[in-house]
Amino acid sequence: MGTPEQTACGRRILLVLSGGIAACKAPDLIRSLRERGFSVRCVMAQAAAQFVTPLTVSALSGDTVYQDLFSLTDEAQMGHIRLSREADLVLVAPCTASLMARMATGLADDLASTVLLATDKPVMIAPAMNTKMWEHPATQANRSTLLERGIRIIEPGVGELACGEYGVGRMAEVPGIVAAVEAHFRLHQSRFVLSGLRALVTSGPTIEAIDPVRFISNHSSGRQGHAVAAALATLGADVTLVHGPVSLPAPPGVSAVPVQSAREMLQACLSVIEEGKVDVAVCVAAVADWYAHYTSSKIKKGQDPAPLSLSLHPNPDILATLSRPGPHRPRLVIGFAAETGDLVEQARAKRQRKGCDWICANDVSPGTGTFGGMRNTVYLVTETTEEYWPAMDKTEVADRLVRSVASALGYASSVSSAAEKVS
Ligand code: CTP
Repeated sequence: MGTPEQTACGRRILLVLSGGIAACKAPDLIRSLRERGFSVRCVMAQAAAQFVTPLTVSALSGDTVYQDLFSLTDEAQMGHIRLSREADLVLVAPCTASLMARMATGLADDLASTVLLATDKPVMIAPAMNTKMWEHPATQANRSTLLERGIRIIEPGVGELACGEYGVGRMAEVPGIVAAVEAHFRLHQSRFVLSGLRALVTSGPTIEAIDPVRFISNHSSGRQGHAVAAALATLGADVTLVHGPVSLPAPPGVSAVPVQSAREMLQACLSVIEEGKVDVAVCVAAVADWYAHYTSSKIKKGQDPAPLSLSLHPNPDILATLSRPGPHRPRLVIGFAAETGDLVEQARAKRQRKGCDWICANDVSPGTGTFGGMRNTVYLVTETTEEYWPAMDKTEVADRLVRSVASALGYASSVSSAAEKVS
């Protein structure tokens, strides 16, 4: 891990100031970032100039301040596309509810939002707004969308707000923002710590066709499995994601193999494993336990509809198959167990029954919102240990699991300390 100067060395930050009262912290933020060795260039939303003057921002950053999407001078000097690309990190501080919403929907109606849509660089935001606005389901949905897209969120703190109310919504303090930026670059430096690691992840539901229009399936969204694949790929692993029908895009840098049924999923996994050594397999898919005999023409109700009996056959167990001893067995095989009732006891039994190394047990009891939702509470059960992970976003569960994988397989331990500091 480098010194602050090494972490910052040559790193360029594009700081986007949106129009909230927390923009008055910009001078302190710019000064602190520059003291740590970062170069800072600023984009200001028009409303930000109500709280801090462009002249101050320009003087402190030592650079031109960009404000207007259609300014001929700005465009001549630096087009908005170039502006968004000539940075190592785009930091939005403060990020208002409005800018979060525009980012989530892909709206580009001023220079700040256009730069954020055009950038191909990592983006980190520090939201700042009134408590009710932060807690509003629309803002929370936007927060989830942005997290899912890989945007890092420096969570707002609790305190007295500019409007006089008290609650969550205050922009994180400047030292916290600077620490998150530094943690991001440390993580970036350790980006390739899993390079050479080959991973197989299953995700989403499977669907078992009954006839050309009907199928058996479940409500799995694929969020947890896709997040695990993304977290592995972010750290440089070579990841194949075998997934059932989901509405999520495959994470960047992952090789995706879409399948429909459990039997197809098994075949796809076996092909990946037989192609070359897989080091770690993480089975997150909610595989349908049964399939029905497929009728090639649509089953008709007939004149006098009688109850329909379907005979269901057990599907192959992919996790158990991959866990079997043999030359192709991955070094580490991990399952996710959806349980109600005594989680740990059932997970222990399931781990042994399936022959895998670890089980991440989730509570899917009604009311937990785990299945199909954004958050997850996990018990990690290994041969010798049990760890409780409190409720967190599925992306955070994925990051934590990947850090455990990295350390179990002897990859650099710097992954954990670097990642811990970034949400
Ligand atoms: N799994 C699998 N193939 C199956 C069924 C499950 O690979 N045919 C994997 C899942 O991907 C998950 C783990 O097994 O990693 C546990 O899934 P879960 O649904 O909790 O267990 P089941 O085997 O279906 O057992 P039960 O429903 O009886 O608890």
